[in-house]
Amino acid sequence: MKKFKTILSFIFAISYSLHAVGSSAAETLSAQSMRAVQIHKFGGPEVLTIHELPIPSPGQGELLVQVHAAGINPVDTGVRSGRAAALAAAVLPYVPGFDVSGTVAAVGSGITSFKIGDEVFAMLDLRRGGGYAEFAIVKEDEAAIKPTNISFSEAASVPLVTLTAWQVLFEVGNLQAGQTVLIHAGAGGVGSVAVQLAKWRGANVIATASDYNHDFLRELGVDVPVDYRTQQFEDFASDIDLVLDTIGGDTQIRSMTTLKEGGKLVSIVGLTAEGRNPARNIEVTSILVRPEADQLVTIGELIEDGILNPILSYQFPLTEAPAAHKQSETRRTRGKIVLEMNSQD
Ligand SMILES: NC(=O)c1ccc[n+]([C@@H]2O[C@H](COP(=O)([O-])OP(=O)(O)OC[C@H]3O[C@@H](n4cnc5c(N)ncnc54)[C@H](OP(=O)(O)O)[C@@H]3O)[C@@H](O)[C@H]2O)c1
Repeated sequence: MKKFKTILSFIFAISYSLHAVGSSAAETLSAQSMRAVQIHKFGGPEVLTIHELPIPSPGQGELLVQVHAAGINPVDTGVRSGRAAALAAAVLPYVPGFDVSGTVAAVGSGITSFKIGDEVFAMLDLRRGGGYAEFAIVKEDEAAIKPTNISFSEAASVPLVTLTAWQVLFEVGNLQAGQTVLIHAGAGGVGSVAVQLAKWRGANVIATASDYNHDFLRELGVDVPVDYRTQQFEDFASDIDLVLDTIGGDTQIRSMTTLKEGGKLVSIVGLTAEGRNPARNIEVTSILVRPEADQLVTIGELIEDGILNPILSYQFPLTEAPAAHKQSETRRTRGKIVLEMNSQD
């Protein structure tokens, strides 16, 4: 019994001292400031300006992450312009950014899965943001250990788009080996990882992209690339099990005709009137991605195993967030764009 008590007090002493280290690290850091991109009014890329802000303190169930890189997503440009401000519950002044990678700098109470010094990647909840900063609050259930075989910049390009692809293909779409999936914008942020996940699952993949991206699509594993600018994808896609709709509008309506009876279309850009009331026996839904640590852990394992490769095309220093948004708004980016905290400005 005495031995048992000694072990118990030893465990208590260790866990108390670890928590104390976490708290004092947070207190020391919160006395300092960090650089962050903030929006003080909604508008064009020029409203993304650099500010000195206090380093936030992690609360219960939260990590303070020293951000090395932050991913850019089209939704960020929508929030910045004000178009998608309600979706993100954005209150001014606002720090954008939903994708981060970095090192755990402090932990709040109740954290069991991470410790100071862990290298992590995470998707921040769409109603919170805060990624375009040198430090960010990350909830424990938004993060996973970063794969060791990719850089922090590559890791920051992964979470939001890959969770989106995962949730469309596997949660809602229930994609099975041998089925055929039509993926629109196969070269984009979501499409380029969706193609790889669908091939990993054993599906046949038809994907749309401009012709200059067709060799790239084949390298990712696409069986049939279609140039949406010069070809009708319906000529190449029929009896489809699942459509991943990244475009909406007319593309969504035409995609519904390619589905087999009982097939599914999952949109990530909202439903048309026709999509809300399909004339045929098909299932048409839309989703909004959510953080999901368990899925991110599996995604990290696929990256470690070399099955899934992040596609990173543009890296900008934090100070060049406006240029990064301009690139995103071209809607011609292959794969992803990230902001780096430590690059020479
Ligand atoms: N609901 C959600 O949870 C959710 C999550 C993530 C993203 N989204 C939304 O989904 C959309 C796609 O996101 P993303 O990150 O993949 O965007 P992205 O990376 O900016 O997409 C760029 C790609 O789109 C392609 N493209 C542009 N117009 C096209 C068309 N008419 N047909 C086929 N491809 C076209 C371009 O291909 P080419 O250069 O080959 O022409 C380019 O590679 C965005 O609107 C985003 O806001 C929603």
